[in-house]
Amino acid sequence: IPVDPFDLVIFGGTGDLARRKILPGLYRRYCAGQMPEEARIIGAARTEMDAKGYREMVAEAIEEFGGKDACDNLDAFLAKLDYVAIDARGETGWAELQDLMSGKDRIEVYYFSVAPGLFGDLAERLQQWGMAGEECRIVVEKPFGRDLESARALNATLATYFKEQQIYRIDHYLGKETVQNLMAVRFGNMLFEPLWNRQYVDHIQITVAETVGVGGRGEYYDKSGAMRDMVQNHLMQLLCLIAMEPPARFDPDAVRDEKLKVIRAIDPVLPHHLVRGQYEAEEGNEEDAPSYRDAVGNPRSRTESFVALKAHISNWRWHGTPFYLRTGKRMVARSSEITVVFKDTPHSIFAEDAGRHRNVLSIRLQPNEGITLGVTIKEPGPGGMRLVDVPLDMTFAEALGPDGGDQVDAYERLIMDVIRGNQTLFMRDDEVEAAWAWTDPIIQGWEARHDVPKPYDSGSAGPTDATEMMRRDGREWRKVSP
Ligand code: BG6
Repeated sequence: IPVDPFDLVIFGGTGDLARRKILPGLYRRYCAGQMPEEARIIGAARTEMDAKGYREMVAEAIEEFGGKDACDNLDAFLAKLDYVAIDARGETGWAELQDLMSGKDRIEVYYFSVAPGLFGDLAERLQQWGMAGEECRIVVEKPFGRDLESARALNATLATYFKEQQIYRIDHYLGKETVQNLMAVRFGNMLFEPLWNRQYVDHIQITVAETVGVGGRGEYYDKSGAMRDMVQNHLMQLLCLIAMEPPARFDPDAVRDEKLKVIRAIDPVLPHHLVRGQYEAEEGNEEDAPSYRDAVGNPRSRTESFVALKAHISNWRWHGTPFYLRTGKRMVARSSEITVVFKDTPHSIFAEDAGRHRNVLSIRLQPNEGITLGVTIKEPGPGGMRLVDVPLDMTFAEALGPDGGDQVDAYERLIMDVIRGNQTLFMRDDEVEAAWAWTDPIIQGWEARHDVPKPYDSGSAGPTDATEMMRRDGREWRKVSP
């Protein structure tokens, strides 16, 4: 079903995110028939360029970053594009943009795909030029602050110009298909929810492993590190969806209220429940796969490219059930997975069975999206009641057809949600602040202790300290495999 007619202005419309994700995603939605004919997309950035030049740039981006094969209608899509060379801090381009936006009865969306330092300037200019109407929507991206104080300041700046209902803070993990499936699995089945608590769950693991290094983003990354870049937002959001109480309705504030309660219930993390790592060069391939320090050009960097931690949630549902979180760059495989490890059966009735058998529910976010439930059955054969664990596997691609259903990229889904005016998958101001309130003391602790991250080999599962942390608890990380 097509969305209502809209004008989408992308500030930073020539930038990396716009070229990689936003514009190819919009083209795919266009091909899927979701974009009404009247829709317009206006790129706005500092580069001097005309609409023709912009269309050429966008065509190249679609060619390079996927989407070209979505349909055969690129020219019709490009005809929807316009471009304004604009100065966020000056006067250039604003009259022209105002001209383009005026007098139409349609949804107005301003995507701030720019450094957060410019959010305030853009908001002020939009207001000054009469474009920050009560009905318009703005989209902002992470990094949403680098600590509680800066996040509060950003929220306050935006709140000067827009109501919270107009602000869409993107965490693209919430747009991932399987992340939403997490809610479908939890709240659409009778099977899991009764067991989803401290009584039956031994522990939960969340792993987001990447094979990429910091690439060309060294300057940003070295000031952030994995805690700010991944844990405060993406892993925190996954943790919330796994741990939250069932919301009464699938509506924005009902869901976000429950997530907020989780964040506020997470205990401060003890120093010995934290492991930081930094990757080394790949042996024999130092040129293409340099060490973290070489990649960011800072030989003394103490920024972490890996974090593992144990978190506790102090509420009735989860008291005593640890949540182990882990994320890192240059690891052995790209694999994001949430694993719920259930407790042992209280008593084994099978004399021959000496092993430990646990049900393990694993939800794979990427790649090979799917859900596996490990169940214990009898080993076939005459050898008595020997038990073996086998997976009940539901790979979406197999279960739902060759394409795994209509797979939509996270950005595509989220942008369409903005246009539909649905904030369910976007972070609210208080959520972001609560997540920073939990993250800040961890980072401050590292800084105060002058903590040096542990080196780990590129292509490994991270530093051995992370394995050790689990072993101390008599547990094991899931193998990181593609
Ligand atoms: C981004 C981080 O938010 O998420 C990157 O800034 C990271 O460092 C990326 O690589 C991971 O996203 P995905 O969708 O590839 O898992």
